[in-house]
Amino acid sequence: MTQSKKTGVIGFPVDHSISPIIHNHWIKENNIDAVNYEKINIDPKHFEKEVCALIESGISGLNVTVPLKELAFSFAKELTDVSKQTGAVNTLTFKKGTVCGDNTDVIGFQRSLDQKVVDHNIYNKNCLVLGAGGAARAVVCAIHNLGGRVYICNRTLEKAEQIQRFLQTESEVVDQKDLGDVVGEMQFIVNTTSLGLGNTNNTMINFTKVDQGAFVYDLIYNPKLTSFLSDAQKRNIQYQNGIKMLVEQAAESFNIWHNVLPKNSDLLMNKLEGL
Ligand code: ATR
Repeated sequence: MTQSKKTGVIGFPVDHSISPIIHNHWIKENNIDAVNYEKINIDPKHFEKEVCALIESGISGLNVTVPLKELAFSFAKELTDVSKQTGAVNTLTFKKGTVCGDNTDVIGFQRSLDQKVVDHNIYNKNCLVLGAGGAARAVVCAIHNLGGRVYICNRTLEKAEQIQRFLQTESEVVDQKDLGDVVGEMQFIVNTTSLGLGNTNNTMINFTKVDQGAFVYDLIYNPKLTSFLSDAQKRNIQYQNGIKMLVEQAAESFNIWHNVLPKNSDLLMNKLEGL
């Protein structure tokens, strides 16, 4: 007899994660033979030991969130091309004695975008990525895949240069002090920094200089309207937050584990909007 699948999300801290709501919704909707998807705190200092204990307990898949994505990358024995490209793993799969690492953030970001935005604001257009952490890597790869010209700007210039070197995709680094000079030429602007979480405001962009036909994206989904998006809204610039990306990356992980690509339904979105 096969055992019901066990899946979950690891992070530190992981308490904020709403991934269980998404995965458990789909487990039920698709009649998957799986137990409740859980949140598990893993101290980065004991990553290996604690993940090995989860494997012992029979876990078959784990999503990985901040700050463990690079550790998961090092831990995986087999890596997909996209996880190699980003240097980060957000999906671990345990089967037949091996550990597979994948990164579904890239496809999740791509699928979260309307085709209109891809056609008008990304393909052959200047795209600005704010930040140079793990999330920025996925977004840079996605924009590159969609044919955009990538510009990276980060508080710490060296980190922007580091990801530019690592990703080996064509991109330019913009010094934060020069941002005002170039921002008017950007048709797609994405915030991947943590500015806007909690009570912090994101003032990296002077929105009076942004082209009104540009599209603004904030990876943060809680709060729904960050100061960054609110500034865009005040100027009638189109925008979106990170909730669709969260759902789409989860869908792809779900597909890897359960062989079902679930739908992003209004029912689920309403559940998440209501949180
Ligand atoms: P993630 O994996 O989610 O991308 P991360 O690796 O911790 O998280 O990256 C956080 C990003 O937010 C970094 O680009 C960071 O800039 P630095 O490289 O200079 O640290 C950015 N960030 C965090 N706090 C910031 C702040 N107060 N002002 C500007 N950028 C900030």
